[in-house]
This record gives sequence, C-alpha cells and structure tokens, in this order.
Amino acid sequence: MKQFFLTTAIDYVNSRPHLGTAYEKICADVIARYKRLCGFETRFLMGNDEHSQNVFKKAKEEGLDPLAYCDQMEREFRKTWAYVDVSFDDFIRTTEPRHKLGVTEIARRLWDAGDIYEGLYEGWYCVSCEEFKQEKDLVNGNCPLHPTLKPEWIREKNYFFRLSKYQQPLLDHFAAHPEFLQPDVRRNEILSLIRGGLIDISVSRAGQSWGIPLPFDSESVVYVWFDALINYASAVGLGGDPELFAKWWPADLHIVGKDITRFHAVIWPAMLMAAKLPLPRQVFGHGFMTLNGQRMSKTLGTIVDPIEAADRLGVDPLRLYLVKEVAFGGDGDFSWERYDERYNVDLANNLGNLVSRVTSMAHRYRGGRVAPAATGNDQLARLGESLVAEYRDAMDRFALHEGAAAAYKLVDGANEFIAATVPWTLAKDPAMADRLAQVLFDAAEAIRLAAVMLAPVMPASSREILRRVGAPADGLTFDRDGRWLNVGERVVLQEGPLWPRKEMTTVTDNPVPPDGPAPGALPPVSASVIPAAAPAPVAPTAAPAAASDRISIEDFMKVELRVAKVLAAEKVEKSKKLLKLSVDVGTEQRTLVAGIAEAYEPDALVGKTVVIVFNLKPAKLMGIESNGMVLAASPDGGKPTVVSFENPPEPGTRVR
Ligand code: MSP
Repeated sequence: MKQFFLTTAIDYVNSRPHLGTAYEKICADVIARYKRLCGFETRFLMGNDEHSQNVFKKAKEEGLDPLAYCDQMEREFRKTWAYVDVSFDDFIRTTEPRHKLGVTEIARRLWDAGDIYEGLYEGWYCVSCEEFKQEKDLVNGNCPLHPTLKPEWIREKNYFFRLSKYQQPLLDHFAAHPEFLQPDVRRNEILSLIRGGLIDISVSRAGQSWGIPLPFDSESVVYVWFDALINYASAVGLGGDPELFAKWWPADLHIVGKDITRFHAVIWPAMLMAAKLPLPRQVFGHGFMTLNGQRMSKTLGTIVDPIEAADRLGVDPLRLYLVKEVAFGGDGDFSWERYDERYNVDLANNLGNLVSRVTSMAHRYRGGRVAPAATGNDQLARLGESLVAEYRDAMDRFALHEGAAAAYKLVDGANEFIAATVPWTLAKDPAMADRLAQVLFDAAEAIRLAAVMLAPVMPASSREILRRVGAPADGLTFDRDGRWLNVGERVVLQEGPLWPRKEMTTVTDNPVPPDGPAPGALPPVSASVIPAAAPAPVAPTAAPAAASDRISIEDFMKVELRVAKVLAAEKVEKSKKLLKLSVDVGTEQRTLVAGIAEAYEPDALVGKTVVIVFNLKPAKLMGIESNGMVLAASPDGGKPTVVSFENPPEPGTRVR
C-alpha cells in the first residue's frame, strides 16, 4: 500500500496553542485526511517541544517541576487539537525516552563522522528565539523579534556542527530536487541564504540541566533546536526500532512556519547528510496568520484562542475559513467580522441553503427518494468530474484554498443548475416527471460530490451532508466516491438548517448620502427601480425628459449601483408582493426586500445575479429592514423583470 508520512512543527509549551499554531495543525490535518482519502496509509505526526529554557523558566514561575508542567501542557495541547478535529496518528514529546534514543543516535553518528567538534562560543543568544545571534542579526543591539528583551552575551564551551561543510551538498540537493522546499518564495530565500555561506553552529549548551545530555560529554546538553529537529526521526524509531524506521523514514512532508523554514531546509538536511540518513522529500513553509493585520502576540493582546473561535460558529466553519480564505503558503488574516461574514455567505446561504433546498424539494416532489431517470442530463455531471480533477490537482500541490474553491464551484454549479432547470415548474407538468427525477438526483449528486471534496476540510459537516443526501459516509475513498455516480436510489432526509444564519451588524465604508437617491431620477427608458419601500413600482415616464429636466452625470453618480448575487430568498409573510432577499454584494452580505413576489418564485432567484441600489437609506418593510433596492424593468400593469446579466460579473462590481 502506498504510504505518506507528514509532520508539523512541534510546539513550545511555554504558552497555550493559539490560532496561528492551530492554523498550521489544521492545514496539515487537511492534507493528512486528503491523503487517507486517496488511499495512502498515512502517518501524521505532531508533538511538543519541551527542552526550551523558556519552558523551564515558565515551570519555575508556576512553582512546578518542569516535567510536571509539560505534562499539564500536553493535556492543554491535546485538548485543543481534539477540539478542532486534528487527526494526528502520533504525538511526540521531546522528553520521551524514544526521543532521547533518536537524539543520542544522531549525536553519536555526527561525532563519529568528525562533524561535531569542541570549541568555545562567545556571542549573543536570544532566549525567546532560542537562537545564537550574530551581531549583524541585531537591531540597536536587540533581537528584532524581541525588541524589549536584551539578548544574553554568553561565553561557554560548546560543541559545533560542521554546517559549513554541507553548503555545496545542500546546493546540489536543491538543484536535483526542486520540489524539496516549497513554495518557491521560500526556496529562493533559502537558496540565497545558503549561497551567502554557512558557518558552523553550536549544538550544545554548557551548565544546563534541562535537556538531553550529549553521549560523549554528559556535562553538556543538546541545544534545543538540534534536539527538536530530530523528533521527526525519533518518532518513527530512530535509534530504537529499526523496523519502524525502515518503514516510515524518510518523511514525505514537513509542514512548518516561514519563521523556522531555515532550520528545516538547511540545518536538518545537513544533519541527516552527516548522519548518512535519507532526507525528507519535501518541506513546506506556510505563511503567518495575523489578527486584523497585526502579528499575533500575547503582549499586544492579539492572540485568538482556537477554542473560542470554534465555539463562536463551529469547528468546521473555523476550519473552512482558515483553509479557504488563506492561500496556503502565503500570509493570511483573521478578523471576527470577516469570519462571521464568510460563515453566512459560504455556509448559511450557499452550501447550507443548497442542501435545504434540494432535500426539501426531494420531499415535496418525490417523497424523499431520489433516483436517476432514464433520460440523464450530463451537463452537471461533466462539471462535477472536471471539478474533482481540478480539486485533486490543487490538493496534490497543497494548494488547499484552490481545493476548497473547486468544491465550492460545484456548489455554485448546483445552484445555477437549479435556477436553470426550474424544478418547481417541472413539478407542475406530469409529462416532465422523469426530467424532474433526474434534476433532483443530479442536484443531490452534486451535493454528495462536493461533500466528499470538502471531507478533509470539514470532516463532521461532510458526514452530516452525506447522511442527509442518503450517501455513505464511512470509509470514503476517492477511487470509489470521488466521481459522478449516476446510480441507485437514495433516501434523502429533510432536517433543520445545517448552519443557521447569524444576524450581524454590518459596517459599510459607504455612508448613505444625506438625501438619498430619488428613485424617479434614474434614467427611465427601459428600466426603472422597484423601490423596496414602496408597494407599487415606479412607472416609466411616458416621454423623454426635456433637456432642462435632465440630470448631470454627477447627480447620476450619486446613485451607487452594484452587482449583487442572491444567496437566499423567501416570501415575506402576509405579503403578496414582497420577497426578502439575502444578497452578496462583494464586501458584505445584505438583506433587502423587493416587490417582485408576483413575478418570481423564491427558489428561482437564488444564485441569480442582479443589480441593486447600494447606497439607499435603509427602510423597514413589514418589519424587515431593507438595505438597498433591486432594479427591474416594470411595465405598466405587468410583472417586473429584474435586471440581470448574460455573463454575470463578480458581486460588488459597480454598475454605471
Ligand atoms: N518549537 C519550535 C519548532 C520546532 S520544530 C522541530 C517552534 N515552536 S512554536 O511553538 O513557536 O511554533 C510552532 C509552529 O507554529 C511553527 O511552525 C510556527 O511557524 C507556527 N506559528 C507560530 N505562530 C504562527 C502564526 N501566527 N501563524 C502561522 N503559524 C504560526 O517554533
């Protein structure tokens, strides 16, 4: 069986997990779950980095023995990772005996090879970074990452690793394996660092007790970074379990943050070369998560607790946000507003609403059972198949955001398919029964396939969606489940909303002008505005306005017309004319009320792209606050037709 061994960085335990560290673990989890889905025997390793001076200090501050403190933190970390559904197969702590075996093995191999030698280190050390610093690394004498903390000047006996010897072998390895370090931006950065020359590095600290003693000098402990990197190999038995090691080493993928890519793409491969062990196949250096554009930092109060974020909207909404909103490899930002907004757009209105519509139509028209009819329509099937291919290509490149986007293209495709095939009209004509059956089956099948693609990102939600569309959720494999299946009857379940909409107060950057636009002032030749607030549409003027009555371009530009996509639509209770619409206007989501109920079924509007007056003062209609107005052609005494597009532009595009 093909296998895949992936790892994340192991976390320092002097503070609790935060959204930045959780981001790494969740993305790695998505990859692990994807590999399992592709049929790989997968080993997903995570762990804690405990031999840091900061950890030792923190334990002392708390009046705890360091190991007892680390035990306590292990529980914290495991609790968080379980909470956000991270499915690691192994969790290593650097204080475990198996890790000591691995570290001892590497240290001995390097010593025997003559690649470790004794010397004297005199220079700076930043305890917060756990790094030896050169004068040129400092800014005004301080570590740039920890400007409030003075680095320590140390002078001690150290053992050095001959990193300099590996400059050319590393360059050769990078040349022979362009995939070794990804994404390209990190590769270029590290290549220029290696080309700039490598100096030998300290691999031990003298006079400390918290750490693993060197096998050839028990007075010194292994330097925390040299110790930590070895976790990847000791977890699969280096120095202790040769069979396990032969099975799993080398690792296929190390996922680490951009700040520590250097350790993984320079020092670690050089250590392995010196130890005559194979190198990991790939290192992926992801970007950093910020909060409202600011670095996540405890002192700045810009730390987000992943459990709190998950509690707000759900674990899967959080995972989807992190994966879909951030291009994996680049930096990403989190804001509570954007998180809420994406929840409403992607989950409540888009995917959640699609599942509700299809399952409720399946019940209304087919008693909850969907099956393909003889006359298939393979347009949606072709879209589904091509999006699975797009998804797999993206996921194989670890472009996780593109993978999630491919699944969402199928969700959009299914919404458009429903709008185009109008099942509620087919249902009125008995001669169209087969067509209706196929349409409903296809829509349910598109949902199933999207849920399979989303399974690595939203494991629990994917299971729930599959249950609702009557498809198996256990032991999913891409070979079997990742294709369009036009077979079998499925029993569909109609249950409550998967993700109820959350009402939120939106802040817009576009203040409403004091007077508001006058609906009658719009150029009224073929289209007029149905004012949300007015029960009757404004009729087109009979004759062209006289030149003196015409408005200036400046007047017209006061009316901000924008493209909007209808995400949800429903009848307003006790009103024959009004529909309540929820629309995506690109930057936010809005509710508006439009007098078009006599011309449109709510279901028919979902997915449609319309034009709205964006900067209209809000108005209350039948108790609902309407924030904008839908443009429609409104013939006298006839039904309105909303203004729409042949090739819909992106929501938010200005119309002028
Ligand atoms: N202990 C070392 C890693 C040793 S690996 C052999 C370490 N620990 S850490 O706790 O500081 O960071 C753990 C991981 O989280 C690192 O990959 C780091 O880059 C990542 N992140 C820390 N803050 C982050 C963000 N704000 N955003 C994304 N990843 C972040 O470094």
